[in-house]
Amino acid sequence: MADLSSSFAGITSPNPFWLASAPPTNSAYQVNKAFEYGWGGAVWKTIGAPVLNACNRYGGFEHGGHKLVAINNVELISDRPLDANLREITEVKALWPDRAVIVSAMVESSPEAWRDIVRRIEDTGADGIELNYGCPHGMSERGMGSAVGQVPEYCTMITGWVAEAASIPVIVKLTPNVTDIVPPARAALAGGADAVSLINTINSIVGVDLDTFEIRPNVGGKGGHGGFAGPAVRPIALHMLSAVASDPTFAEGGLPISGIGGVQTWRDAAEFLLLGASNVQVCTAVMHYGFRIIEDLVDGLSNWLDAKGASAVRDIVGVSVPRISPFGDFDLSFKSVARIDETSCIQCNLCYVACDEGAHQCIDLTVDGARIDPATLADGVTPQPKVREGDCVGCDLCSLVCPVDGCITMVSVATDRPKVTWNDLVRDRSEVTTDWDAMLAYREENGIDIH
Ligand SMILES: Cc1cc2nc3c(=O)[nH]c(=O)nc-3n(C[C@H](O)[C@H](O)[C@H](O)COP(=O)(O)O)c2cc1C
Ligand code: SF4
Ligand code: SF4
Repeated sequence: MADLSSSFAGITSPNPFWLASAPPTNSAYQVNKAFEYGWGGAVWKTIGAPVLNACNRYGGFEHGGHKLVAINNVELISDRPLDANLREITEVKALWPDRAVIVSAMVESSPEAWRDIVRRIEDTGADGIELNYGCPHGMSERGMGSAVGQVPEYCTMITGWVAEAASIPVIVKLTPNVTDIVPPARAALAGGADAVSLINTINSIVGVDLDTFEIRPNVGGKGGHGGFAGPAVRPIALHMLSAVASDPTFAEGGLPISGIGGVQTWRDAAEFLLLGASNVQVCTAVMHYGFRIIEDLVDGLSNWLDAKGASAVRDIVGVSVPRISPFGDFDLSFKSVARIDETSCIQCNLCYVACDEGAHQCIDLTVDGARIDPATLADGVTPQPKVREGDCVGCDLCSLVCPVDGCITMVSVATDRPKVTWNDLVRDRSEVTTDWDAMLAYREENGIDIH
């Protein structure tokens, strides 16, 4: 069986699943319970300057009858007394020497305040410190959280204060509320961080009540932007992870990345690991379903590693990173077409409508193999959609809307087009007057007619 144990920036845990800093890690009661269920580690709910939280503080994002596809929150850091948190962290770490106990912190941006909190955290016996540069509301207005994470210079400066004061590993948690996450990641590296984690929550307004016109969540008649998290943010988190993992400057520093954002199943976790995360952190899925999800996370990851012939988690970390490519290097001569398996097709015609109205009009409706005009379709006759492969541009839309798994597949087909990339087409500007000319010339030479 594959070895699930993890060593992240020197912090060991029996598996790569940590609870993210959030409501599930707010107290010793919760973290003890989580460890009993088998979580490998926990990042304690951010501690620091005193705060007062609002009610209501969460807004749910539902889609297609599914609850909590994402959660939006205007919650601040821990509102419990600092001493109570520190005492409970000490107790938990003493009880669970084999688990990772990390303390998330956010204090005012002064060297004294950070040195003081580092000392108090180290006194608990915690394994590491996570710097919360991500909170997008409340704390940022006070010069903390994302106000730091959005300015690489502040990020380097504060990380430097902490790294100098700390003898335990320092993890910098990055905010996604930036145009490009790479500069803050490099800034953490430059400041002496031992690792980064990403992502924190994304700025959002989750909705408006159509009866009362109130913003959700409604805090006594007012509402505003909050942090978005949960399954819906996963693609954004994966993109940001891949941007950092494939950045040559960051990679040269050799820092591990803790992947966060929308992890709910072992499959989600595996995607984060493949894209360069050395472990993963989970919040919303635990708020939704409880600590017990760790059982499926561990079993699923373990079985998948075995099936892939991997002996340990580290064997798959970053395996997909070399496949990340800028658009300019994609092979534009690669050609695929949609193919319908008529034996599993239920003739719902969703593919026909999608291609006809949202794509390239190359699915025909047929009856007894002959193309028919949909306007003349007789009552009670169910047509069979067929792809005109010669006209299909391989956009993939029909296979995405088809409700039957595996009924429409995108198959790659041979083409005599010469291999070309966008970068090839725009490289030699002496030969062509504009990029547009090069595109048109390539299309004409190779008979690519996009109607
Ligand atoms: C209600 C709530 C409170 C949170 N509080 C904190 C916090 O105190 N410190 C922190 O670093 N991140 C906090 N987060 C962010 C999470 O740690 C995590 O980065 C984010 O939720 C994305 O992970 P997920 O999609 O698994 O929820 C909070 C998230 C939620 C939903
Ligand atoms: S892949 Fe796109 S163009 Fe081809 S049949 Fe499907 S929807 Fe139409
Ligand atoms: S969407 Fe799928 S099931 Fe429906 S008609 Fe098209 S191929 Fe058949």
